[in-house]
Amino acid sequence: MIQTGEYTCLEIMTRTVEGKKGYVVLRDTEGRENRYEAGKKYYQWLKIPVERQSSYELTSRDAEISLAYLSGCENILEKGICFIEPADGGISLSSREAAAYYDTPYREQYHFAPWKNWMNDPNGLCWYQGYYHMYYQYNPHGQEWSNMYWGHAASPDLVHWTHLPVVLEPQKEVLEQADIRKGGAFSGSAVVLDDETVFYLTRHLGPMEDGEETVQQQWMTRSRDMLEFEPEKLVIGEHPVGASFDFRDPKVLKVGDVWYMVLASAVDGQAAILLYRSEDMEHWDYVKPLVTEPEEGVRCFECPDFFPLDGSFTAWGALMCHRDVYGRYQMSRYYIGEFRDENFTVKSTGWFDFGSNCYAMQSFEHEGRRIAIGWISDFYGEHVEVENGAYGSMTIPRVLHVKNDRLYMTPAEEIYTLKSERLYTGEKENIHLEHIAGNSFYAEITFSENTDFNLLLGRDGKKEIRFIKEKDFAGIRTSGVKSEGISFPADVDMVRDMEIFVDRRAVEIFINGGEAAGTKLFYNSGTEGCFVLEAERPEAVTRAEVTKMQSVWQ
Ligand code: FRU
Repeated sequence: MIQTGEYTCLEIMTRTVEGKKGYVVLRDTEGRENRYEAGKKYYQWLKIPVERQSSYELTSRDAEISLAYLSGCENILEKGICFIEPADGGISLSSREAAAYYDTPYREQYHFAPWKNWMNDPNGLCWYQGYYHMYYQYNPHGQEWSNMYWGHAASPDLVHWTHLPVVLEPQKEVLEQADIRKGGAFSGSAVVLDDETVFYLTRHLGPMEDGEETVQQQWMTRSRDMLEFEPEKLVIGEHPVGASFDFRDPKVLKVGDVWYMVLASAVDGQAAILLYRSEDMEHWDYVKPLVTEPEEGVRCFECPDFFPLDGSFTAWGALMCHRDVYGRYQMSRYYIGEFRDENFTVKSTGWFDFGSNCYAMQSFEHEGRRIAIGWISDFYGEHVEVENGAYGSMTIPRVLHVKNDRLYMTPAEEIYTLKSERLYTGEKENIHLEHIAGNSFYAEITFSENTDFNLLLGRDGKKEIRFIKEKDFAGIRTSGVKSEGISFPADVDMVRDMEIFVDRRAVEIFINGGEAAGTKLFYNSGTEGCFVLEAERPEAVTRAEVTKMQSVWQ
């Protein structure tokens, strides 16, 4: 039975079983039934009004339900939607049941992940009228990339998120011809104005294989409540001459009185971030490439960003199809420099996120902090599919700074409110924590001098993930998993301090107060974690602490 509580709408995504005429049936306690047709070729997104404080039985005939939830209540940003599991006439999951649903070995406890299925890039990150908002690339129907929707979540504190209704869906022509075309609502960003938020996004429409027939256009929409979006307006219909068909992921900023948009593309075969300008946010003129990546063999920059920070400007982008000398795939590069008269003069550049399982990072500014969140991506194919699993999650929000021409990233301080039971504090010794219940923890270590060490952060049978510091190498290494053989060096001369976040399958490491940050997936099928430090000179450890982290889904 579904209990509606304060909710007034039942949203269901449903598709007919091939060759049949499927539908879903909603039956109230008096036995009144309503039938709703399922989509023939694609998942129909039904929005069915329901009575508050009522019970319904939900059944389906010859139709699959990919996602179902209750929406439309007051305070929805606070309360979130209520998910329905379609089994046994529909079960509405209370928040307590939802916490149990989240408590599985492959699901993060304090990193954001969708309720189920595939997600990639964060989109439209912003703070608006009391809440942080995070939209994201979402396939509600399965644990693989497919035609894109925008999922949505909100948080009062960057740490506790509520799931909210899906806001954007793929174009009809994509859904109706999903066997020969692909596309949807691709990545984009938000600009907060006084009493509304403006969104920019790419609509993609193309054949299954990207190529010259692929169309990527930039669209704009607005919202006052972050839930309902106005009809979209086309703002840039085609890419400039010389740029590739990869032309997407608008990110908008204001410099003085001028609005600028950066877009992912490539020019003459080199990955490039394109710069556009506008006086009114609607009419956009192409200026020129803001940055061109010198390295060969990169298809384009994806999800570029551009913002002022600590007296200079930072641009970044994710390098599509790039592989570095260590075997790392699709790293992201930042560029720091001066932006004058629409010229960006790059002074320094570097990789960010040495673990390379962090992609499409997007930033926004709120109350003087430049905050960024990235998609924890799986470029080495290490995902383990489980029923109702989520494929993809988000990094911890990071606060950015530029110091000595280098981009620093530190965990947003709100994350420390989740620290709970202390598992270890000590100094000048090696550490052996082999059975950390729940495998969701945080650790800090400070070293007084440069010592080599080997730090085990996860073990599952013969599979391992370690952070290793030896001679000229400081970084992550895995064994027994698909990323074995690739090394993940952090670009630091010495490790003075480390902050380590292990959260079931996600490992995030911050070194030397944010000088380097690295994200690596490690699917651990067990329920216990480990933290084993073996240092060549244990006396170099001036302080170490390991604490459990609370789940944000309780
Ligand atoms: C990056 C990306 C973006 C695109 C989106 C589609 O991960 O490929 O360039 O807009 O994902 O889901």
